[in-house]
Amino acid sequence: MKVRIVGIGMGPQHVTPEAAAALRSADYVVAASKGDDDGLLAARREVAAAYGLEVVAVADPERDRADPADYPGAVADWHAARVAAYAEVLGSRGGTAAFLVWGDPSLYDSTIRIVEQLADRLPLTYDVIAGISAPQLLAARHRIVLHPVGQPVHVTTARRLPEAVATGQRNIAVMLTGALDLAGLEDWSIWWGANLGTPSEALVAGTVREVLPEIEAARVRAKAAAGWVMDVYLLRAAP
Ligand SMILES: C[S@@+](CC[C@H](N)C(=O)[O-])C[C@H]1O[C@@H](n2cnc3c(N)ncnc32)[C@H](O)[C@@H]1O
Repeated sequence: MKVRIVGIGMGPQHVTPEAAAALRSADYVVAASKGDDDGLLAARREVAAAYGLEVVAVADPERDRADPADYPGAVADWHAARVAAYAEVLGSRGGTAAFLVWGDPSLYDSTIRIVEQLADRLPLTYDVIAGISAPQLLAARHRIVLHPVGQPVHVTTARRLPEAVATGQRNIAVMLTGALDLAGLEDWSIWWGANLGTPSEALVAGTVREVLPEIEAARVRAKAAAGWVMDVYLLRAAP
């Protein structure tokens, strides 16, 4: 058995020739389904269809979000439930399965960790094909480099943004966002993007103080247009 973990960027236009070759070598696609209105599952289906691949949708197990104090524990339980569900599919079908990962598998995605666990249970080999990630596309759309010359860029989640600022990070890419809480960062610059690479893509850039209301309105519009919204932004402290 073989598993190919394929980064598909933000949709069919980002499937690289390397990813396309991996897809052509696969027998079927395994994809987590978060319900009927799962916009990302629809994107995966579109990519799979382009390569004539059947999509085996595996209902995503419920994740316990009640106790944020035990976030790692809740995620570990969720991963274990996903591993069990995927093991059943792979065990019964065999062959070469492709997991289509939104963006790149290296950023805020559990597929590699899940497949590592699958490989402990089943006789399989696996590889990873890189895709275009949301921060990369954000930078391209805004025509920027993610960091000033010779400086680092810190990639984190909105949840951990206060910690990043407190520890002195000055150039921060933020993913897994929620409501924008940028109090205290009014002088910072922000390059923001939502639903990148899709028809409802929205971009805003400027000083946080000046563009925050514009971002909030654009976020609402993107969600209304697509039925879902995912956004990513780069924050840079004033020099
Ligand atoms: C679970 S992570 C997956 C990231 C993905 N593996 C990547 O390489 O970009 C989802 C987060 O990525 C960002 N994201 C993913 N797709 C996006 C898009 N099309 N536009 C803007 N942000 C996106 C958002 O911050 C979202 O909360």
